[in-house]
Amino acid sequence: MTATDAVLGAPVERREGREKVTGTARYAAEYPQPGRAQAWPIPATVVRGRVTGVDTAAALALPGVLAVLTHENAPRLGAPDDPTLAVLQGPHVPHRGWFVGLVVAESLEAARAGAAAVRITYETEPHDVALTASHSGAYVPDSANGGFPAVTEHGDPDGAFAASATRVDVAYTVPPLHNHPMEPHTSTAHWDGERLTVHSSSQGTSAVRAELARLFALPEDRITVRAEHVGGGFGSKGTPRPEVVLAAMAARETGRPVTVALPRRYLPAVVGHRAPTLHRLRLGADAGGRLTSLVHEVTTYTSRVKEFVEQAAVPARVMYGTPALRTAHRVAALDVPTPSWMRAPGECPGMYALESAMDELAAELGVDPVELRIRNEPESEPDSGKPFSSRHLVECLREGARRFGWEDRDPRPRSREEGPLLIGSGVASATYPVLVSPCVASARALPDGGFLVRVNATDIGTGARTVLAQIAADALGTPLDRVRLDVADSGIGFAPMAGGSSGTASWGSAVHAACVRLNGRLAEHSGRLPDEGIAAEADTSGTAGAESPFARHAFGAHFAEVGVDTVSGEVRVTRLLGVFAAGRILNARTARSQFIGGMTMGLGMALTEDSTMDPVFGDFVQRDLAAYHVPAHADVTDLEAHWVEEEDDHLNPMGSKGIGEIGIVGSAAAVGNAVHHATGIRFRELPLTPDRVL
Ligand code: MOS
Repeated sequence: MTATDAVLGAPVERREGREKVTGTARYAAEYPQPGRAQAWPIPATVVRGRVTGVDTAAALALPGVLAVLTHENAPRLGAPDDPTLAVLQGPHVPHRGWFVGLVVAESLEAARAGAAAVRITYETEPHDVALTASHSGAYVPDSANGGFPAVTEHGDPDGAFAASATRVDVAYTVPPLHNHPMEPHTSTAHWDGERLTVHSSSQGTSAVRAELARLFALPEDRITVRAEHVGGGFGSKGTPRPEVVLAAMAARETGRPVTVALPRRYLPAVVGHRAPTLHRLRLGADAGGRLTSLVHEVTTYTSRVKEFVEQAAVPARVMYGTPALRTAHRVAALDVPTPSWMRAPGECPGMYALESAMDELAAELGVDPVELRIRNEPESEPDSGKPFSSRHLVECLREGARRFGWEDRDPRPRSREEGPLLIGSGVASATYPVLVSPCVASARALPDGGFLVRVNATDIGTGARTVLAQIAADALGTPLDRVRLDVADSGIGFAPMAGGSSGTASWGSAVHAACVRLNGRLAEHSGRLPDEGIAAEADTSGTAGAESPFARHAFGAHFAEVGVDTVSGEVRVTRLLGVFAAGRILNARTARSQFIGGMTMGLGMALTEDSTMDPVFGDFVQRDLAAYHVPAHADVTDLEAHWVEEEDDHLNPMGSKGIGEIGIVGSAAAVGNAVHHATGIRFRELPLTPDRVL
């Protein structure tokens, strides 16, 4: 084994780990330029209507208050791509919590006091925020998110279902869910003449820069966006959010650097959430346990600001072989905050429903649920007919079953009691697509023997900079510590965001190409390097993202064990084990963290995470981390992630599939299926809180 064989895949520690644990890593709120002001936004206190009056006199009289911006005096902006960014541009209120003002002050406390002193009056209209499966406003959209057709159909799903020997016809509900990253959405902006510099808590600086250019009518080269450290995002920072627009606006109006750090309780309304999904599943099977029909129909909502259609029926197009298949989405536009991306959008809620229904079918058939999935393994991708570039779902199921001790399981529900606890176990499959986008990168060999690699990647806590350094070291054939890396600066060049589990593939392909090109230049060069070194650039826009003749997806299997307390109704996950097939694993340490992070988020989805839309008040009830409980250490007893070796030459130079999202896909179904096994009762609405379970 050579030194470079070892670098890719090695469990390398993250490069910024020390900075993070010693508190020296700087986040977007932590750039205190001289004269920096702070700002506090004002959310609308009605659901639907318009602002009829603004009285800022009392606020402006408070010590330290510099300015109050509302639609009456805020600068007019250009049209953004994303209409949720058109803040303070008019009196219209599309949902409760929409920002109607911003107070800028010398301190955060003064800004907050100023916001409380602004008097705003409204005219209201009746609102509708309640999603039902039969909502009269629900329609079939042109497409679901990701450009997927809203409806697909193969064979005769209704006829085949009616003729099936065994049938399951069930409805599942996933509530609205919120991303709630540790670091709330924050931006610090300052202007230097007609140059704008922003430190933003974002999953990608290129998209932020492009929107700011549209909004402020500036050429992109006058704007710099940096996101050196980001405290999580889970999709909610995948697109620019109102705070970056407000910060840039306030900085221009006051002539001061301005930080806008959104208070956590304002996040649920303005930075997106996973839309609720109502699922109807109809599964028909023959006597041999083979699917004869699969119908997955989803109803969801979007806001009145823009259309967002959670593509939750899409994974049913990938998973199982069946002669008859229908998948369909309907959406209703309601007076709700705009839903957006949340970890494994589409796959996460869709696979909760599909994998729960598969468990019901296994029970109806009297077939082991692992075996049922293996029996329905397709020859090619069911919807497209394309061959899979690689698919090791069966290996994940078998390896997971072996590690979990599945064969010792008594299949009868409610067969295991320990004192007040009912014990059960469950299984579910996982899938997530392989995505990749164009990116630019450069690599420079320096006279001191080191290398400088530059790519506008964002490290949102995943270890991206570490893995990219490994990719570069591998391609250059140099020890890892010789590679320096610059990331997270829009000035470096175009890069896609950290999202869609595509960051490493997209940035890494460009880094790899730049390093290979540099190797070529170095081979031609003999003797001492010039002072500035020798450099090479790469731009993957000609190749990355092109349509593949293969269906490319990662797969996985989750196994859960639960204890259900018959006295309190509390469900505890005592064990959660995942096995994944995701191409080549590039860093065993950070990959494991990604898998178990996703699984933990799935555990929260199963048991505690819940955003309830109050139909009268028109807002989410849970607006802090006390009411919206994400799993803490005490909730996670025994969690393991493993992977099977998978070689796939149809992916990218590294042979990797994305790993950021697949951990959450299917994990809630595994927990729910375990609760059914423990109790004999099928709960079809998440989360499985004591009030539902008892
Ligand atoms: Mo993720 S929801 O693709 O940032």
